[in-house]
Amino acid sequence: MLIKILGSSAGGGLPQINCNCRNCADARRGSPAVRVRTQSQVAVSGDGVHWTLLNASPDLRQQIQATPQLWARPEAGLRSSPIVAVVLTNADVDHVAGLLSLREGVSFTLYGSATVLAALRANPIYAVLDPAHVTRATLELESKVALAGGLSLEAFAVPGKVALYLESSAPNFGSELGDTLGLKISDPSSGATFFYVPGCAAVDAALAARLRGSPLVLFDGTLYTDDEMIVQGLSAKTGQRMGHLAMAGPHGAIASFAALQVGRRIFVHINNSNPALREDSPERASVEAAGWEIAWDGMEIAL
Ligand code: MLT
Ligand code: MN
Ligand code: ZN
Repeated sequence: MLIKILGSSAGGGLPQINCNCRNCADARRGSPAVRVRTQSQVAVSGDGVHWTLLNASPDLRQQIQATPQLWARPEAGLRSSPIVAVVLTNADVDHVAGLLSLREGVSFTLYGSATVLAALRANPIYAVLDPAHVTRATLELESKVALAGGLSLEAFAVPGKVALYLESSAPNFGSELGDTLGLKISDPSSGATFFYVPGCAAVDAALAARLRGSPLVLFDGTLYTDDEMIVQGLSAKTGQRMGHLAMAGPHGAIASFAALQVGRRIFVHINNSNPALREDSPERASVEAAGWEIAWDGMEIAL
């Protein structure tokens, strides 16, 4: 199984178009301290031929262009794509906008929870994904699905919240079960397996039990500290308000994973405000000392 991290940033990317925070300003001027990053995107394949996209980033066209494995193959005729499936973990803009870049007659299966597929159905622009080419498949939680190309997928609910543009005044902003998913992806032919959890508000007992002993987890690395966007003057929101668990702190991701014996822990979906993005920062040193890695665009993992 080959996993490619095509976009390691959270929504907005790095630099974000309207942001002059330290990281964005440094990335914009080409400083070696902070790499430029595109928005949240992973691709995975069991055979190197059939590729499944995990979410669909607003930067997807650029990410495909940067990834020869995802190019149309000359031997496959005039029009073709190695992309056979897209699996959505939520309906956030940074995870669904790229679907519009797959409207050129690419045939694939679009997997999402019932609530996420309903959110797309309620938005007429997604009708551009012609059902003649794009098959919608509802993910039943905790059920195994066989993906084209031999991989196996299992989706499960994790603590989180509904997409920002769907928030209501109901408790937890009207979030329902299935609005935020984690994915377990396995290759039955090799036994390789990993988890992808790019959005998560807490590691509760159920999630901890599920992840325990896993060889690899790609996990929500949006913020380093829960209040960093407030402290930096960027936003009035905490990570918890946005449905994201911080890296640091007594209930943060690093502490929550400390006893889980996960082989390789990689932060993805990292917001441009996060000081751990800076290669020379004390926060990066602390993340690495705890055994975590910070994803970068183009990172490849062979399992
Ligand atoms: C998030 O991860 O919290 C969302 O992508 C925020 C957004 O919709 O911009
Ligand atoms: Mn996001
Ligand atoms: Zn910024």
